[in-house]
Amino acid sequence: MSQAPRKILVTSALPYANGSIHLGHLLEHIQTNIWTRFQKMCGHTCYSVCADDAHGTPVMLKAQELGITPEEMVTRTRAEHHQDLLDFDIDYDNYYVTHSDENKQLSEQIYNRLNAAGYISKKTINQLYDPEKGMFLPDRFVKGDCPKCGAEDQNGDSCDVCAATYSPTELNNPRSVVSGAEPILKDSEHYFFDLPKFEGMLKEWIQSGAIQLEMANKLQEWFEQGLQQWDISRDAPYFGFEIPNAPGKYFYVWVDAPVGYMASFMNFCANNDIDFDEYWSADSDAELYHFIGKDIMYFHCLFWPAMLEGANYRKPTGVNIHGFVTVNGAKMSKSKGTFIKARTYLEHLNPEYLRYYFASKLNDSVTDIDLNFEDFTQKVNSDLVGKVVNIASRCASFITKKFDGKLSDTIIDEALLSEFTQASDSIAAHFENRQYHHAIREIMALADKANQFIDTQAPWVTIKEPDQQQLTHDVCSMGIHMFRVLSIYLSPVLPDLSQKAQAFLNDEFTWNSAQATLTGHNINKFKAMLQRVDADKVAAMIDASKEHLSVTQDISKTKPATKKETSPAPKNDDELAPTISFDEFAKVDLRIAKIIRADHVEGADKLLCLQLDIGTETKQVFAGIKSAYTPEELVGKHTVMVANLAPRKMRFGMSQGMVLAAGPGGDELYILEPHAGAQPGMRVK
Ligand code: MSP
Ligand code: ZN
Repeated sequence: MSQAPRKILVTSALPYANGSIHLGHLLEHIQTNIWTRFQKMCGHTCYSVCADDAHGTPVMLKAQELGITPEEMVTRTRAEHHQDLLDFDIDYDNYYVTHSDENKQLSEQIYNRLNAAGYISKKTINQLYDPEKGMFLPDRFVKGDCPKCGAEDQNGDSCDVCAATYSPTELNNPRSVVSGAEPILKDSEHYFFDLPKFEGMLKEWIQSGAIQLEMANKLQEWFEQGLQQWDISRDAPYFGFEIPNAPGKYFYVWVDAPVGYMASFMNFCANNDIDFDEYWSADSDAELYHFIGKDIMYFHCLFWPAMLEGANYRKPTGVNIHGFVTVNGAKMSKSKGTFIKARTYLEHLNPEYLRYYFASKLNDSVTDIDLNFEDFTQKVNSDLVGKVVNIASRCASFITKKFDGKLSDTIIDEALLSEFTQASDSIAAHFENRQYHHAIREIMALADKANQFIDTQAPWVTIKEPDQQQLTHDVCSMGIHMFRVLSIYLSPVLPDLSQKAQAFLNDEFTWNSAQATLTGHNINKFKAMLQRVDADKVAAMIDASKEHLSVTQDISKTKPATKKETSPAPKNDDELAPTISFDEFAKVDLRIAKIIRADHVEGADKLLCLQLDIGTETKQVFAGIKSAYTPEELVGKHTVMVANLAPRKMRFGMSQGMVLAAGPGGDELYILEPHAGAQPGMRVK
C-alpha cells in the first residue's frame, strides 16, 4: 500500500494509579499497540503516548491507607505499570504521569483560556461532608438506605435493589465510607464548565466519523436529554492541581486526565526535539486518535473535545471505543480467579499468546470480548504453533543441512507466492480499520495454503532422492518465502515472533518488504520460536489469581459502619428471619420460569432485563445480577420467580416480579435452577 507518510499521535486511556494493570486494561493497550506498530511498519510517523492517572480521591485515600504520600504511591505504581506494559511488548514512546509540571502548566493554560472566553462560572452547592475526616464526599463514598424502597447499604447514587436513582443527600441513615461517620450537609462554591455552549460543535464532530456509528447514536440520546453544566472543581483535601486564583479548590481529576495526553506528548517532544504544536495547534494536519473503553466515552466525546475547542486546540481525529473483557463468558471475577493481573499472567504465560488471542477477536465495534481459556489454548496452539511456525520448522533444517543455509535462486510456484504478497493491501486495510480479526483470518487462510503446499510436495521424501535435490531445495525455499511473508503480516501483533523470524531470516521487516523475495539469500539456523500453551500453566495462573482477593479489593467497596439495627428483618445473610405463618408463605406465588431473553439495560450498572416464560404469560423482570452473569449465560435456563409481586415502575420500565438468587452479591450470586423436567409455569410448593 503506497501512501504519503502521515503524522499520527495515538493514546490509550491513562490507567488509574491506585490499582494494578489487569487483562481488561491489556485489551486496550494491545489494541493500541498493534495499530501503532502497524503504522510505524508502514513508514508513517506515528507516536504513541500514555501515562498513569495520578489524581483524585481514591488515589489520595489509598495512599493514606498505605501510610505513604500520594506522590510516592504514584511514582511506585507508574513504574510498576510501565514495566507490566513493556513486558507485553507494549512500547509507548512515552509513558508519563499526570502529576507532572507539563500537565500542571497545560491544565492551567486551558482553564485560563476557557475562563477568559467566558466558559467558566461559579455556583454554591450543598454537598455531603464527612465531619470526622474533614472532607467532602464523592457519591461513591457515601452509603445508606434507599429513599425509595428502604434497602440498606446502598450506594450514594443508585439502589441495587429497586434501581432508583437519587442524590446522596436523599439517602436515609447516610454513612461515610471513609470514616463511618454520619455526613453533614455543607455549602461549597464550585466551578462549572459551560458544556451546553458546545452543543452545535459536538453534534457536528460526532457525525464527522470521529466515533463509531453505534456510539454516535448513543450520544444522540444525551443531546436529547440536554447537556449540563459540568462541575470541574473539588475542595481540599484533594490530590490534584489547585485551580488558578481559587485557593483550596482543585481541578476534578477528569479535567487534567485527558490533558495528561498532551502533557505526556509535550514531555516526549522536549526530549526528542519534536514540535508539539504540529500535533496540537487548532490547524494541525496531524492525526490524533484516542483508544478508550466504552465506560469513559462521555468524557472523551463530550467534555474533552469541548475543552479543546474552547481553549483553541485541535480536536481528536477519532475516538476508538472498545468493549469490555469477559473471561470464560462472565465478568472478571476475583473469586473465580478470572480477575487476572498483568503480572500474574506474565509469571505463567507468554505475552504473545494474549496479543494473538485478543487480535483474533478484536474488531472496530464496542462488543465485549470474551477470553475463553479453552479457546485461547486451542487457537494459539493450532494457529501459531501448528500452522505458522510449523512452516519454517518443516523447511529450515533441510536448507541448513543440505543447501549450505542458502535459499534457492528460483521461485518454484510464482502464482502461489503472489497470492501471499498480493494479500498485503487487504490485510493492511484490516489493520488500519481495526478489523484485526479479519486480518488474522486472512493470514491463517494463507498459512493453511502454505502447509498444504508442503504436504503435497513432501520434501522429507524427495530429499532422499539424489535426482530431486534441486526440487527439494526449491520447495523448502518456497516454504521459507511464504513463512517470511506471514511473519511480516503478523509483526504488529507478535513483535517477539517477528524479531525471531528476522534473526532467522537475516532480514529486516517493513510492511512493504513483503513484496520482495529473498532468492539466493543466506539464512540462519532455525531455533524454536514459540512453545505450545501449557493448559497446566493456565490453571496455575487462575489459581494464583484467586489468592489476590484482598490485595485487589477496591477501597470503594469497603462497607460503611452500619447503625444498630432494630427492625425484624435479618441484618445479614447469616441470621435467620423471624418465623412466619404458613398462610403468609402461601401468599407468595413461586413459579418455574424459563429465561427466554436477557438484555443489558442502558444506563444500569447492576441490572439485566429478563423475559420470563411462566407458561401462561411472559413477565419482564429487572434483576440485579449483571455482575454475576452475562445475558448469553442466562438465556435458555430455568429458574424460580416470585410471580405475584406487585409490579414496580423502574426508571427503565416495569418490573413484574423477582428472580430468586443466592449469595453475598457482586460476582458471587447464583440464580436458583430447578432439576431437569420442571416446566415453565409449574407452581413451587
Ligand atoms: N483514568 C481513567 C482514564 C483517564 S483517560 C484520560 C480510567 N482509568 S481505568 O484504569 O479505570 O481504565 C483505563 C482503561 O481501561 C479505560 O479505557 C477502561 O475502559 C479500560 N478498561 C478497564 N477495565 C476493562 C475491562 N474489563 N475490559 C476492557 N477495558 C477495560 O478510566
Ligand atoms: Zn431501593
